Amino acid sequence: MLRSVILAASRSSQVERLVATAPLTRDVVRRFVAGTGTDDALRATRELVADGLRVTLDNLGEDTVTAEQATATRDEYLALLRALDAAGLAPAAEVSVKLSALGQRFDERLAYDNARAICVAADEAGTTVTLDMEDHTTTDSTLDTLVKLRKDHPSTGAVLQAYLRRTESDCRELAGAGSRVRLCKGAYAEPESVAYQSAREVDKSYVRCLNVLMSGAGYPMLATHDPRLIAIGEDRARWFDRGPDEFEFQMLYGIRPEEQARLAGEGYTVRTYLPYGEDWYGYLMRRLAERPANLVFFGRALASK
Ligand code: FDA
Repeated sequence: MLRSVILAASRSSQVERLVATAPLTRDVVRRFVAGTGTDDALRATRELVADGLRVTLDNLGEDTVTAEQATATRDEYLALLRALDAAGLAPAAEVSVKLSALGQRFDERLAYDNARAICVAADEAGTTVTLDMEDHTTTDSTLDTLVKLRKDHPSTGAVLQAYLRRTESDCRELAGAGSRVRLCKGAYAEPESVAYQSAREVDKSYVRCLNVLMSGAGYPMLATHDPRLIAIGEDRARWFDRGPDEFEFQMLYGIRPEEQARLAGEGYTVRTYLPYGEDWYGYLMRRLAERPANLVFFGRALASK
């Protein structure tokens, strides 16, 4: 219930104005977001890489409504990739891209062209691109774009969301050699017709999907902070004899950093999803919705002001 309310608020410009101007917000945002500019992103990337982690960078923003905004987002990614390359961080750091930030909602062709330009820049920098997955109305379009991008840029990855009923079947489609799939639970408010609603059903679906990916020939990226699912991932890695360069764990910046360090210390490949940029509102609200305890953190920051 609380989750649905917060997710509904994540689409409200009125609530956005309230949250963005609240004095506490900067402290809370800082926990989950590297900063606003490319320099902040590079600094945080350097620190994470020095700690033995890999990184995927997300230039925050979604649901752009004009071609100019979409092109500006593309250009920010191109600049970021050049900067990562120049700093020698590109092999350890890749980028995550939301197609809605590149124009998907109003011009799928434009979003594809923008994503392709980012893939070309990633190739030049010697790194990869992963397409984030947004709400279910975009799943087909995102997977179609993935197929097209992979023709020239086969290392392009995609996110699949275990809460969607279709995802086990999508995992089978994408479990082939060379395919990179980031498996997460899913962060949007979705109707029962397309998505499992209970945590138990979502977790069971996650395990089924994980089994498909870990037993397949692709490169699974297990994106979760859930201790039980991480333990199952470790178990399947042993069972299917996958070494540290044959799959990876992924977690969000600021969430369970000690667990990220533990897994990296045990020799697993661990990648931190690192968001940066001005447009943090939707991202922050989804993080709050995932864990109501974060609202307490939010409240404490307010009380300390
Ligand atoms: P769950 O929510 O059950 O959390 C398990 C435990 O992790 C909690 O008990 C808590 O300890 C900790 N935890 C989880 N979330 C926390 C939070 N916000 N704050 C503090 N602690 C928290 N979703 C999507 O729809 N599309 C996408 O493209 C992506 N991309 C993506 C990339 C990566 C690398 C990750 C890790 C996640 C995503 N997600 C996503 C988000 C994902 O769908 C999901 O909402 C979150 O990862 C939370 O789910 P968990 O699997 O962590 O389990």
